Amino acid sequence: MATLPSPGLQVLYTREQIAERVAELGTQITRDLNGEKLVMVGVLKGAAPFLADLARSIQADATFDFVATSSYGKGQRTSGAVRLIKDLDESIEGKNVLIVEDILDTGLTLAYLRKLLLQQRPKTLRIVTLLDKPSRRIEKIEADYVGFSIPNLFVIGYGMDYAERYRNLPDICLMTPDHPE
Ligand code: IMP
Repeated sequence: MATLPSPGLQVLYTREQIAERVAELGTQITRDLNGEKLVMVGVLKGAAPFLADLARSIQADATFDFVATSSYGKGQRTSGAVRLIKDLDESIEGKNVLIVEDILDTGLTLAYLRKLLLQQRPKTLRIVTLLDKPSRRIEKIEADYVGFSIPNLFVIGYGMDYAERYRNLPDICLMTPDHPE
């Protein structure tokens, strides 16, 4: 099937490129699990499409849980402070946990979440992020698995938003300053 681009937007990664990379990540994560069980912890809302696709590429006995933190709000700028809006439903003590994030930017969110989840003493705690913007890092944190490393660009689609919009775009697109809001 031919790719229909997201209308009027510059595509950074097509849905086909995303699917291919997600499948590779799934294979790698499956291998590293060595047959053990997994709890996938999605960071709402942006990681939802990624988690859904990634989960189907991981061959393991897996369960889902979700957390939500305060986010960018209505614009492209972060406030700096991270706050937990939704906690885990189940204890992760003694479990293999994989935090599933859409994009690792300043690292404030994942540094906060990692610290919080480690307090519950999981057996292992790993991080997978679909996108990584290493040049923007404030907190010293790296993901164990990275889909694509990108420069300092603001992206939308495949779960990622601008003022809560565009999450349902199937491709990852660039949010250009001249794009109509
Ligand atoms: P961090 O705490 O700065 O690492 O930011 C992580 C969160 O910021 C991500 O989960 C996204 O919700 C949001 N974010 C960072 N960069 C972008 C972007 O380019 N587009 C959309 N959301 C972004």
